[in-house]
Amino acid sequence: GQSKKKEVRVWCDGCYDMVHFGHANSLRQAKALGDKVIVGIHTDEEIAKHKGPPVFTEEERVKMVKGIKWVDEVVLGAPYVTTLEVLDQHNCDFCVHGDDITMTAEGVDTYHLVKSANRYREVRRTAGVSTTDLVGRMLLLTRNHFRQGSAEYDIEKEDSAAKSPWTGCSQFLPTTQKIIQFSDGKSPNPGDKIVYVAGAFDLFHVGHLDFLEKAKKLGDYLIVGLHTDPVVNSYKGSNYPIMNLHERVLSVLACKFVNEVVIGAPYCVTEELLEHFKIDVVCHGRTPISLEDGKSDPYALPKTRAIFELIDSGNEMTTERIVERIISHRLEY
Ligand code: CTP
Ligand code: C5P
Repeated sequence: GQSKKKEVRVWCDGCYDMVHFGHANSLRQAKALGDKVIVGIHTDEEIAKHKGPPVFTEEERVKMVKGIKWVDEVVLGAPYVTTLEVLDQHNCDFCVHGDDITMTAEGVDTYHLVKSANRYREVRRTAGVSTTDLVGRMLLLTRNHFRQGSAEYDIEKEDSAAKSPWTGCSQFLPTTQKIIQFSDGKSPNPGDKIVYVAGAFDLFHVGHLDFLEKAKKLGDYLIVGLHTDPVVNSYKGSNYPIMNLHERVLSVLACKFVNEVVIGAPYCVTEELLEHFKIDVVCHGRTPISLEDGKSDPYALPKTRAIFELIDSGNEMTTERIVERIISHRLEY
């Protein structure tokens, strides 16, 4: 007879506040342990009870996790202490979490129930990135900003690309292996309509996600160009970007709408770029187009070729807004 092996369903849960590539990497490892990944997300109320209010609302957190390419289902309202009932309710075989201990406000291991039932597996936490670290960078950014005014990028001083050139606190070590693990490694199929977008994509957020979803719908294969740290700084000023190029690459690669990333894309969309990637359409979202150092429009060429489109992401989120949120709530985090 037909013997079809039962599908293995893996449960992951957490706050997923300010989703970063560390979260994505844990979900990638979880996916490798089974067939389907089901993510349970705590409500704002539940998080506030155990560790203080999250930076992002539950709607935003759910949307961000749904955008990660290794995620199959998202459930809002997961209990802080993972129960066997919740695993059964969602037909999950076991629960996966990073190798850090998480506790409730009362100091109870949040995975003690699934651990004693042998329905717990561990994956390696990604070193060098966390919500706390990102918040720290943002606070440092404002402090430097107030004390020194606008920081200039000094290429001579900066030889380690693994650090944020301004805040210098990233401990994340980018490797080719990580990029390979995050990439789907697929080339466009013949005849695919190729869409190109470019930007900073700093602190990858819901606004970026809504934008990329719409951009992807304009074609079959989406390429995202990421500007280098000095280029982003030249038009954003202050201490931007908060995340360095390597970190931004992984955040964007983890997004399910993205097929390919250009690591250090030119600010202007050039003839060479259009030819090389056989780009059919170039788009930009609802934010103003910055003119690098007062220079010309970076989209001049695709505009004259009539292959340029403006997209309204319908989302007001920006990297600056996140920084404002952090600063106005800093006493709470
Ligand atoms: N995670 C990870 N690597 C990181 C950060 C988180 O593997 N650098 C994993 C956690 O181990 C957990 C999942 O991501 O399995 C989501 O948990 P969450 O409660 O959101 O993570 P935190 O540990 O609170 O993440 P952060 O410290 O960044 O807030
Ligand atoms: O600002 P950044 O360079 O990261 O933006 C990348 C792209 O995402 C741009 O095309 C921008 O207009 C778009 N975006 C958007 N809606 C937002 C935030 C960004 O369409 N809320």
